[in-house]
Amino acid sequence: MSEAGGPVTAIVHAGGPHVLGLLERVEVLLREVGGGHGPVLAEHAGSTIAAGGKRLRPLLVILAAAGEVHPADGLVRAAAAVELVHSATLVHDDVLDVAPLRRGRPTVFASAGRDAAKQTGDLLFARAFALLAANEDLEQVRALSNAGSALAGGELLQRADAFDATITRERYLRRCELKTARLFEAACMLGALAAGGGVAAAEALREFGRRIGLAFQILDDVLDVAGPAERTGKHRGTDLLDGTVTLPFILARERDPGLGALDPREIVEPDQAEAICDRIVATGALDEARTMALQHVAAAKAVVPGGLPARERAALLLVADGVVARYA
Ligand code: IPE
Ligand code: IPE
Ligand code: MG
Ligand code: MG
Repeated sequence: MSEAGGPVTAIVHAGGPHVLGLLERVEVLLREVGGGHGPVLAEHAGSTIAAGGKRLRPLLVILAAAGEVHPADGLVRAAAAVELVHSATLVHDDVLDVAPLRRGRPTVFASAGRDAAKQTGDLLFARAFALLAANEDLEQVRALSNAGSALAGGELLQRADAFDATITRERYLRRCELKTARLFEAACMLGALAAGGGVAAAEALREFGRRIGLAFQILDDVLDVAGPAERTGKHRGTDLLDGTVTLPFILARERDPGLGALDPREIVEPDQAEAICDRIVATGALDEARTMALQHVAAAKAVVPGGLPARERAALLLVADGVVARYA
């Protein structure tokens, strides 16, 4: 899966010619929404959107529509709304994580400060719901707002667990469920709803979204340890530096008890974090974490509804494989 500049070509191709056209419409809408609002906010919101990203969630919305939809305005709005919530969350996440880099560029937090990042994230959230409200479908608003609440809950849980080297796998997975998987779930549900498939079609895709979301976050956490920074757009060990204890550390701790005795508050320099990353890699924990991600991918593939058109089915299966194949 390509890291920036949109979803990988093979998936778009598998989904059919209309997928690319819809993604381009989403892009136009995102840029429209990012502009306006005065020069300062427009600069930060616009640059966050223009920085790219994989656009994986809009792709899921489009594929979950299970075929061509006419007119597609509502579907395009839903796809853009999900990406806006995602972008808002990243801008806020970078404040919480004190992160210097995002999508290979300085974060809004790093370049313009906490207040600007807070306002930019708030604006993106607000615009997401304004856009989705135009679809005049309460179920769609419900799906996205539930995901938004879960995201906030996941970030709070992450803060509550910060610098705790003893957190369990279960607690970690709960965090991933909330902060990542619920938005993937919502993306799948919104595609089905915006295509007029109704609640039953939306429910049928929910578990698929959840499973790939879990796999995606586990792999993101693996990549934070494995790097390299040129591919991830973030420095190695960023999670450790902000006190976020993730699956690679949890698994490594079971194999290298010295790691369990470590106080994450003492990891303050990037070099220290890199050294701990090397120690985690040496335990083989990354292979185990990747295996766990692959189990979620397999579970996701098993629940792709058999009744979907062949093109969408094929594309969704490729998406599932793609979330763990990122710079593999
Ligand atoms: C990053 O998501 C946040 C996580 C859920 C790990 P993405 O990796 O999809 O971010 P972009 O949109 O491609 O930058
Ligand atoms: C993902 O968590 C952010 C949200 C889903 C809110 P991370 O903190 O791991 O994401 P990155 O690594 O900063 O992209
Ligand atoms: Mg982060
Ligand atoms: Mg991360």
